[in-house]
Amino acid sequence: MIIGSNSENREIEKRIAITPEIVKKYKNLGFEVQLKNNYGSHIGIDDSLFIEVGAKIINDEKELINSSDILIQFALLNKNQISMTKENQIFVGSFNSIENKEELNDLKSKNIKSFSLELLPRITRAQSMDILSSQANLAGYKAVLESFSYFEKAIPMMMTAAGTIPAAKVLIVGAGVAGLQAIATAKRMGAIVFATDVRSASKEQVESLGGKFLTVKGAENLETEGGYAKEATEDFKKKQEELLAETLKKIDIVICTALIPGKKAPVIINENMISNMQKGSVIYDLAASQGGNTAFTKVDEIVDKNGVKIMGERNILNKLPVSASNLYAKNMFNFISNLYDKENKKINLNMEDEIVNKTLLK
Ligand code: NAI
Repeated sequence: MIIGSNSENREIEKRIAITPEIVKKYKNLGFEVQLKNNYGSHIGIDDSLFIEVGAKIINDEKELINSSDILIQFALLNKNQISMTKENQIFVGSFNSIENKEELNDLKSKNIKSFSLELLPRITRAQSMDILSSQANLAGYKAVLESFSYFEKAIPMMMTAAGTIPAAKVLIVGAGVAGLQAIATAKRMGAIVFATDVRSASKEQVESLGGKFLTVKGAENLETEGGYAKEATEDFKKKQEELLAETLKKIDIVICTALIPGKKAPVIINENMISNMQKGSVIYDLAASQGGNTAFTKVDEIVDKNGVKIMGERNILNKLPVSASNLYAKNMFNFISNLYDKENKKINLNMEDEIVNKTLLK
């Protein structure tokens, strides 16, 4: 069987879904691997490195797409590329089934099976395939670096002969995968870190990383059975607002990561809170492309409100595409290995397996 991967639209996606290390692993399982020419050259991985480990490089996009049995990507192919597909292929990526309904229907009509890995169940067995976790972890780290680079004071406390510089105070809003990594990164750099979340379980995780958890007093725990956040009630929002309005007056840097699956991101930091923050403070909003956690977030812009900088990007992972690709490619490989019947050397779509069932776009 042939596994292929086409180049993404580099304007919006710099990550790649197959690295040379992973080509070897696919080959060990018995697959052939083929890639579009210059597949990784924009991140320093020349075609020669792929050829060395046994991948075939194909210049013609139609040939590449049409002759692959399994196609591994980030985004879904565009309409023109979909016209190059053939019946019964398997596509794996992160395909945004809400925005791409029409394209996905075109694929279904050719009996192409599309697996979208942001739908993976959050179970232990799926952890090695979990693209949301692997990418959110890096995003949390990078958001801290980005915000710190715009902050015009030092981060750690410094006691010098010329005087003492106080440590910067950082607030993390949303202590999921990205938020926890943001806490760890900010702590390592010497900041005093606070964090808040709607899920009470996150308190212990925040504290284990040396962060101070800000509990919304008297509010209920808003955690679903799957471990995600529920939308906050009006009562919760009011209590959270009171807590954050006071806290933010003393905070230098805020990293926002709060998301609710399938919904627009909650607006947590409002105009009033921002107007009370110190000038020179920085907010990095990782929820920007889902609508943003602040009242002023604009995707790919730095907004200045009374001296407070508010920033957020469509795809922060384009700023560390090598690390992000390495992890994503491993996630994809682990997913394909789970589909692969090693004894009979064929792909087995076992619908009883919740990993397979929940990720297949039906
Ligand atoms: P996410 O990206 O959907 O949301 C980020 C964080 O924002 C979450 O912690 C959420 O509770 C929080 N949030 C939402 N609304 C908020 C509000 N109004 N105010 C404050 N915080 C708010 O979540 P992520 O990072 O994907 O993790 C969700 C859960 O899944 C976590 O419990 C995590 O530990 C768990 N998980 C389990 C895995 C597994 O067992 N395989 C793998 C990865 C995560």
